[in-house]
Amino acid sequence: MSAPIKAQPVTAQLTHSAIFLVVVLKPGVDDVSAVRDLGADLAGLVRAISFRHPDRRLSCVMGFGSGAWDRLYGAPRPAELHPFKEIKGAHHAPATPGDLLFHIRATHMDLCFELAAQVMERIGDVATVQDEVHGFKYFDERDLLGFVDGTENPVDSDAIKAAIVGAEDPAFTGGSYVIVQKYLHNLKAWNAIPVETQERIIGRKKLSDVEFADDAKASYAHNVLTNIEENGEELKIVRDNMPFGDIGKGEFGTYFIGYACSPARIERMLTNMFVGLPEGNYDRLLDFSTAVTGTLFFVPPVAMLEGD
Ligand code: HEM
Repeated sequence: MSAPIKAQPVTAQLTHSAIFLVVVLKPGVDDVSAVRDLGADLAGLVRAISFRHPDRRLSCVMGFGSGAWDRLYGAPRPAELHPFKEIKGAHHAPATPGDLLFHIRATHMDLCFELAAQVMERIGDVATVQDEVHGFKYFDERDLLGFVDGTENPVDSDAIKAAIVGAEDPAFTGGSYVIVQKYLHNLKAWNAIPVETQERIIGRKKLSDVEFADDAKASYAHNVLTNIEENGEELKIVRDNMPFGDIGKGEFGTYFIGYACSPARIERMLTNMFVGLPEGNYDRLLDFSTAVTGTLFFVPPVAMLEGD
């Protein structure tokens, strides 16, 4: 019997700190082997840093954008890898550049920071940081809108089923697709509406985090529009959203990150949110939160990343 294919730590336990590093390859650089070499050495780098603090659960997921895949690996391609498709509906979900994603998680920021610095030390000659967000968990696992975020995330084998590519794409079994989007909140406007209105938008109680009964939910509630099914089965994704912000700039945000065995399910949720289901019945969260980035990546299984 062959050994099971090892996935990158996509379904790692949620942590209190994260760095989301979206990187672009420099144009005109022919030799991008430093990126492939980093992929091969990534597990070793994580080990070298986390050995001193194994309890801080450092992990890193490395993903590749559609264009970068061609430049780095060529054929064969993961069946559903494509550039993020912008959505123009009641609100706009832009597509923004990104060749590589590093999703770095730990219980403490020091380990995340050290790994991010070492990653860029290795590939800084051929790549530049396009977007860098340092995320933190807020009180009670809440986002900056004040709601607990992550409750309905699948765990254990359900998380693997939701996030990891199976036999449907045999050359890429053990991989995953990930979409990231940076959202900026208009907190003044959000905090000016009654809590009851906020709760109808999210579909859960704010203080207790208890979900509304299905028949009490608004048709536009976030947990109605992101609840999708196929043949009577709910299609889940694995999320690890993080608050971030910059007080001086008046910036308050949520970094959305969603992993799935197929990007189509995340795209369907996004269409429901931005265009609406039916059209016009869009996610009212978007009246207060603006997506300013949007990128799709493929996360190869460990052996592929290591060049085996
Ligand atoms: C501003 C950005 C966002 C914020 C603040 C946000 C916040 C939340 C909150 C508070 C919940 C309820 C608790 C939970 O189950 O986690 C939730 C649920 C959920 N969100 Fe989001 N979210 C955002 C964007 C997105 C996006 C872009 C997607 C997918 C494309 C998404 C997919 C989901 C899903 C699948 C659930 C679980 C629904 C259920 O099964 O009940 N979210 N989100």
